[in-house]
This record gives sequence, C-alpha cells and structure tokens, in this order.
Amino acid sequence: MHPVSLDSFTKKYKTLVEKRLREVVGDLDTPENLAKAMLYSLEAGGKRIRPLLVFAVIEAFGKDPQDGLDAAAAIEMVHTYSLIHDDLPSMDDDDLRRGKPTNHKVFGEATAILAGDALLTLSFNLLADIPEDAAPAPVKLALIKGLSVAAGAPGMVGGQVADMEGETKELTLEQLEYIHINKTGKLLEYSIIAGAEIAGANKEQKEVMSKFAYHIGLAFQIRDDILDLEGTEEMIGKPVGSDTVNEKSTYPAILGLAGAKEALDHHLRSAKDSLAKSGLEVGILDQITDLIGLRNH
Ligand code: IPE
Ligand code: IPE
Ligand code: MG
Ligand code: MG
Ligand code: MG
Repeated sequence: MHPVSLDSFTKKYKTLVEKRLREVVGDLDTPENLAKAMLYSLEAGGKRIRPLLVFAVIEAFGKDPQDGLDAAAAIEMVHTYSLIHDDLPSMDDDDLRRGKPTNHKVFGEATAILAGDALLTLSFNLLADIPEDAAPAPVKLALIKGLSVAAGAPGMVGGQVADMEGETKELTLEQLEYIHINKTGKLLEYSIIAGAEIAGANKEQKEVMSKFAYHIGLAFQIRDDILDLEGTEEMIGKPVGSDTVNEKSTYPAILGLAGAKEALDHHLRSAKDSLAKSGLEVGILDQITDLIGLRNH
C-alpha cells in the first residue's frame, strides 16, 4: 500500500464528515432556531480528531474508511454537545470556543442546553440508521451500546461530574487520572474501538486497540491541560487560563509543567508501542499520535 500523508487523509475525511454533519442536521424536521444552534457549534471548526481516528483505524485494517462515516459524524455530534454544555455558565463558564463566541452567548442558555440535548440524541439515531453494507445489525448494536457507555454516567458524564467536584480541591494523581480517562479518554477510546468494530477486528486486535486508545485518551487531555497554560487564545480558540480561574486539578497543577510533559511523553510512547505491536498498517495512526503530542490547538 502507498504511504498516505496525514495532510491529504485529513483533508479528504474532514470534508466528508463535515458534509455529512450538515446534511443530517439539514434534514431534521425541527424549529429553525434549534437547527441553527446545532449547526453553529458543529460548523465552528474543530480538529475533528475523533472522526479522523475512526477513519484511520478502519484504514489500518485495510478496509474502506467511508464505512465509518456515520459513526464518525455521530461521535463528532456527541463531542460537540459536550463542548456546548462544558462551556455553560454553570460549568466552565467560558465565552469562546473554536474561535467563536460560545453557543450560549449567541443563542442563550436554554437553547444551548437543548441544542446539546438534540445533538446527543441525534447521534444515536444516526448510528441506528447506518446502512447494512457499512455495518450489519450486530455491529450497529455494539456501536450504540458502546457510545451509551462512553458518553454516559460510566464515562464522559461521570468524568465531568468528578472534574466539577474536584474544583478547589487537591486531588491525588489517581483521582485526576480517573477524571481524564472518563471526561475525555472514553470518547476518544470509543472512536478507536468503533473503527475496529466496523473493520471487523477480532478480540485480540480490539484489545491492542484498547491499549492504544487508553494512552491516546490520557495524552490528549494532558496536552489540553498544558495548552490551557502555555497556549494563546488565538492558537487554541478558547480562553487560556480557564482551568486556573476555575481552580481545576490538572496534570500541570499536580505534577508541574515539566512533570506533565513527561507524563504526556510516556503516554505517547506507550500508544506508539501498542501500534507497533498491532501488525496493522498504522502509518496514519502513528502520525495522529505524533500530532496529539505536538498540537498547538
Ligand atoms: C476539547 O476537545 C475538549 C477536550 C475533550 C479536551 P478538542 O481539542 O478535540 O476540541 P475541538 O473539537 O478541536 O474543538
Ligand atoms: C472538557 O474538558 C471535557 C469535555 C468537554 C467532556 P475541558 O473543560 O478541559 O475542555 P476545554 O479545555 O474547555 O476544551
Ligand atoms: Mg471542563
Ligand atoms: Mg472547559
Ligand atoms: Mg481544557
């Protein structure tokens, strides 16, 4: 197989998933203002790292990444809903997201909450409607169940609650790890497992991908914590210092900046080790892993 550059891969699949997101929301029979609020946050930009992971995993198995299109769009909807709610005044109270005013700043708090609710529920509808040739019924069922766990109380929502409850407290590294694994790691992990599921991975292959995913999830949020301190608003498209204002426990807060960077390197190295052991065509996944370590936004 020809080596594919991450740039061309990203361009191709970002365009595809963004088109699908517009299509799915455009087809809804719903009040115009709600559709506008949903599209506003979906179209505000974003790296689309979760969709890219779905596509890249399927490609690593030598299958057609397009089979993951609806799963990728569903995950990006859940992620976008989580950002809309994360920015609310009752949560992190942030005014800028993806370089634009946050959803509640434009549409008001009530509509922002409902736009988030609508994106979350729509994601399950999209998974249920995946065409049979892209994912047969048992695979779809596994995808639906997996998303409900990753996004829900045992995953992202649980992590967000622990993150909130940890404000102003000094947490242990173990408690912080729980937060990061759940509030951010679980949806990233799900993106990778969903790709493996769609590609028809066997049990051993799923186990290797789970290990890879665990380290990617932690690395991603550690980098996010570092950027909250070292980034600029222009770079990251969201306010810097939000964690400090909210007295959040973060990797740099607990380990210091140098310690956080060491932890980041450790998880990136472990992620790459898992890839190397997978026996798959991991060129793109390897490049995405490097990008997570170096990303500036
Ligand atoms: C930000 O996620 C929130 C976290 C879970 C760390 P991303 O960094 O993927 O945000 P976008 O989608 O690119 O805006
Ligand atoms: C957000 O973590 C995790 C979720 C949205 C589920 P953060 O609060 O650190 O994310 P940012 O920095 O606002 O993007
Ligand atoms: Mg938060
Ligand atoms: Mg936040
Ligand atoms: Mg953050």
